[in-house]
Amino acid sequence: MIPTNKRKVRVQVPASTANLGPGFDTLGMALNLYAWIEMSEAEETRFTLYGDQMQGVPTDKSNLLYEVAKLVFERAGLAAPELEIAIYSDIPLTRGLGSSASAIVGALAAANALIGGRFTNEELFQFATELEKHPDNVGASLFGGIVVAFWDGLRAEYIRVEPHEDLEVLVAIPHFQLATEKARGVLPREQSLENAVFNVGHSSVLVAAFCTGRLDMISRAMKDALHQPYRAPLVPGLSAILEEATDNGALGVALSGAGPTILALVDRGSDRKAELEAFMQGKLRSEGIESTMLWLQPDKAGVQVQEVPAGEAEASLLEVARGASRV
Ligand code: HSE
Repeated sequence: MIPTNKRKVRVQVPASTANLGPGFDTLGMALNLYAWIEMSEAEETRFTLYGDQMQGVPTDKSNLLYEVAKLVFERAGLAAPELEIAIYSDIPLTRGLGSSASAIVGALAAANALIGGRFTNEELFQFATELEKHPDNVGASLFGGIVVAFWDGLRAEYIRVEPHEDLEVLVAIPHFQLATEKARGVLPREQSLENAVFNVGHSSVLVAAFCTGRLDMISRAMKDALHQPYRAPLVPGLSAILEEATDNGALGVALSGAGPTILALVDRGSDRKAELEAFMQGKLRSEGIESTMLWLQPDKAGVQVQEVPAGEAEASLLEVARGASRV
């Protein structure tokens, strides 16, 4: 056993999609696109950021990973040590695929492993929700699968639902960034009772469809009145894709989180996948927006933590990440 302060841990944490249409701030699903984080105590705090996604990310103690790790030590009643942190990520930043939630969950899990796993995942879920202010992305990255959750400002509650075997995911990732604050800023502070009832109904039926395997119901249930209509002007092409994707091979379609990524749920056995991909990419292109299309699977495992054997080569995080990378 390596002494506590010499241990290095490695975490693999999935991306996530939030809302799934009507479940604004309450539904999330983990996706098999990952970030990898290594963390160990050190003489001096140091960061190694691998990959294109990391441009502009701070390399001092204002780095989110460091701040979150520090919180874990402090909540355990320990002084935060200097930390050596390395990260490689395939999750694009500010595109609606939960990159900040995965960083929060990854740093919580890594720091918690360094202090011997004092906190349960349930406790990490509370910390993560407090930091992110909504439980949908963090819940999915932490627990994997589909997470149905709420936060009352004090406590978050969730139930994890196993994704149906036939569910596959197509994402169109536009080549522009959309800050979550901006996409939340356009939402009205007050909503009509009619819209509230619309979303409660659609979200409830969508969750029931996931729980009972009623994939045929997804096209009718995956509709939203609370956020997508207001965000549509920020993502040219979104309205047409939301209206027409189910006629072009999707089981259901939604803005992924705060956008700009657009997500379609697809039946794995569908013979219309190429048609759907061309439709979504074509609609965005007709608005002058290029996009990267990715076929993804629901991640069922959530965050994974392992101890890095003493003496393993420095470059191994990159090797591990590249070996498992799907982009
Ligand atoms: N539920 C959040 C939103 C996800 O739609 O704003 C983005 O963080």
